[in-house]
Amino acid sequence: MKIGVPKEIKNNESRVALTPAGVFELVNYGHQVYIQESAGESSGFSDEDYRDAGAVMLPTAEGVFAIADMIVKVKEPIASEYPLVKKNQVIFTYFHFASSEVLTKAMIASKAICIAYETVSDDDGFLPLLTPMSEVAGRMAIQQGAKYLEKPIKGRGVLLGGVPGVPPGRVLVLGAGVVGVQAAKMAAGLGAHVTILDINMKRLRYVNDIMPSHVVTEFSSVYNIKKHIKDHDLIIGAVLIPGAKAPNLITRAMLKDMRPGTVLVDVAVDQGGCFETTRPTTHEEPTFVVDDIVHYCVANMPGAVPYTSTLALTNVTLPYILKLANLGWEEACSKYPDLGRGLNVVKGEVVIEEIKKAFEEVDLLIR
Ligand SMILES: NC(=O)c1ccc[n+]([C@@H]2O[C@H](COP(=O)([O-])OP(=O)(O)OC[C@H]3O[C@@H](n4cnc5c(N)ncnc54)[C@H](O)[C@@H]3O)[C@@H](O)[C@H]2O)c1
Repeated sequence: MKIGVPKEIKNNESRVALTPAGVFELVNYGHQVYIQESAGESSGFSDEDYRDAGAVMLPTAEGVFAIADMIVKVKEPIASEYPLVKKNQVIFTYFHFASSEVLTKAMIASKAICIAYETVSDDDGFLPLLTPMSEVAGRMAIQQGAKYLEKPIKGRGVLLGGVPGVPPGRVLVLGAGVVGVQAAKMAAGLGAHVTILDINMKRLRYVNDIMPSHVVTEFSSVYNIKKHIKDHDLIIGAVLIPGAKAPNLITRAMLKDMRPGTVLVDVAVDQGGCFETTRPTTHEEPTFVVDDIVHYCVANMPGAVPYTSTLALTNVTLPYILKLANLGWEEACSKYPDLGRGLNVVKGEVVIEEIKKAFEEVDLLIR
């Protein structure tokens, strides 16, 4: 199969969908891989690295889309890429169709086969292609939060780990899922005192079992949240209710109960955020201050660490890319139901209920 990897052109996106190691693997199976020049540069991979691994480098995205049977990307195609997508071409990437009517219509019109990373899922609902990005964001939340606690950037002026004779900072993590556990682990590693809340007792039991004793678990309730926000320096929003907007766990009125310079990192911003005062920010201007409380609400946190994020993503996508390349999309998707659940739009038809529902709600008649 001919596999194409264009350079990502969405604002602030520096990841690339295939590493030289992935190219090497595909070429060993007898496939041809076409990479757009400089596609891997921001992730630390030169054109030379790709050539050495067996790829053919092409100067333009037009060339890559034109030659490939399957396009592998990171982010959804943007408007300038829509006309490049060909009939019957497989596009394997993050799509998030439900949040874009324009993209959905464009992919329906293209008659391509759109397989979305975010809906590839196993029988238990585990999302293997989303998890690594939550792991990156959870760890980054502490790195960023620790930085914004510094006084010159409007934080409280607290060193998370403390020093001998001075107690460590206090970190409150709301949600003990993938993001929350990674955040708690990083904060604990820095020596901070960590409180982690969830409504799922199974998760709290797990966290209690694996974390050191300075990570304390508690059931998530309005009462407990109100109690803890008064004396925690860094608060991480990491809740998720699948398919729904994140709940507002901290209201604007509650900000006055916090100490000035407290830092809120809302990782759940991509689902609407779990603080009332959250609004999405970018890596150019990641924070804003409301009532003396610093808010960090970057919606694509992994984008800031493309080297790590590219490797984390491609570690999990490559086995699926190989299945698609070796078997063709129809056989691969029927043989591997987890991959089959990734099918979103196939040759002009939306094949997944969630997207149909999302557009029925806005009265968009698909088909
Ligand atoms: N900003 C970014 O760059 C970025 C990157 C990756 C993930 N995310 C987002 O981070 C969020 C968390 O992702 P995840 O992978 O950890 O999800 P997850 O499903 O693994 O964990 C979410 C946890 O929230 C808990 N929860 C639900 N309601 C709660 C409440 N009221 N109080 C406390 N806990 C509650 C759930 O029980 C679950 O354990 C998602 O919104 C995800 O989209 C953002």
